[in-house]
Amino acid sequence: MAAVIDGKAVAEDVVGRVKVLAAELRAGTGIVPGLAVVIVGADPASQVYVASKGKKAKECGFHSVQHTLPADTAEAELVALVETLNADPAIHGILVQLPLPEHIDSGRIIQTISPDKDVDGFHFVNVGKLGTGELATAFVPCTPAGSMLLIERLRGRDLSGLNAVVVGRSNIVGKPMANLLLAANATVTIAHSRTKNLAEICRSADILVAAVGRPEMVRGDWVKQGATVIDVGINRVAAPEKGEGKTRLVGDVAYGEAAERAGAITPVPGGVGPMTIALLMANTLVSASLAAG
Ligand code: GUN
Repeated sequence: MAAVIDGKAVAEDVVGRVKVLAAELRAGTGIVPGLAVVIVGADPASQVYVASKGKKAKECGFHSVQHTLPADTAEAELVALVETLNADPAIHGILVQLPLPEHIDSGRIIQTISPDKDVDGFHFVNVGKLGTGELATAFVPCTPAGSMLLIERLRGRDLSGLNAVVVGRSNIVGKPMANLLLAANATVTIAHSRTKNLAEICRSADILVAAVGRPEMVRGDWVKQGATVIDVGINRVAAPEKGEGKTRLVGDVAYGEAAERAGAITPVPGGVGPMTIALLMANTLVSASLAAG
């Protein structure tokens, strides 16, 4: 039976260190890390994520602001807000929650964020740094960075000789995750919805990262004996066993089945989710520290 990877505990450890360093930065320089989170529209899941990011920032002793804009906000207005935040010396991190309404070009908004305040790591400058292995000065997207920390704790920093399979090719998770694994010397395969023999490819993985957004798609018999399984999925599904209209959260991995074969596995919730927020705090702290010179 697999060891359960306690992402909540590791995240608390990271946040604890961020709190200490933020207090030291404040005492030494007077600088308080500032995080601005922007949400457009009223998507319930996005509202929950944004609220928890703001709450965690306050817990870390940060200056935390949230801008909530109506769903029909014009693109030009959002660009103007990002430019204002770029110029605001009290703000060190800017996060525009995705997805944005369809009439707004997300790419344009992301590229408007100053690369120095791009704590999501989505700007071309930061994507390029990660892609070329300039990790020391890159902001790395929070979910893959958090997943990588969990992998490091189990398998060490050097993954030489290990096969890693990432299922999913999104710009937010799949591609940056693959680059991080590659930078750690793993042999990396990116699989996705059009991949043939997906089960077989997954079975070759010593490290299997599932980030497809499909509930319980990765089955137990896709998992190599002893593999490290990182489940990035957060899917809400009907749970009639809990009562009519009730739901529960599941990952992209069929947890019960996979846990019988994996060496270690992240649960949903309580695995990767808390790590994402912890790494956002860490990125914001780094940004504020760099601003301090
Ligand atoms: N939507 C889902 N995940 C993310 C994320 O990591 N950052 C932003 N900005 N939006 C998201």
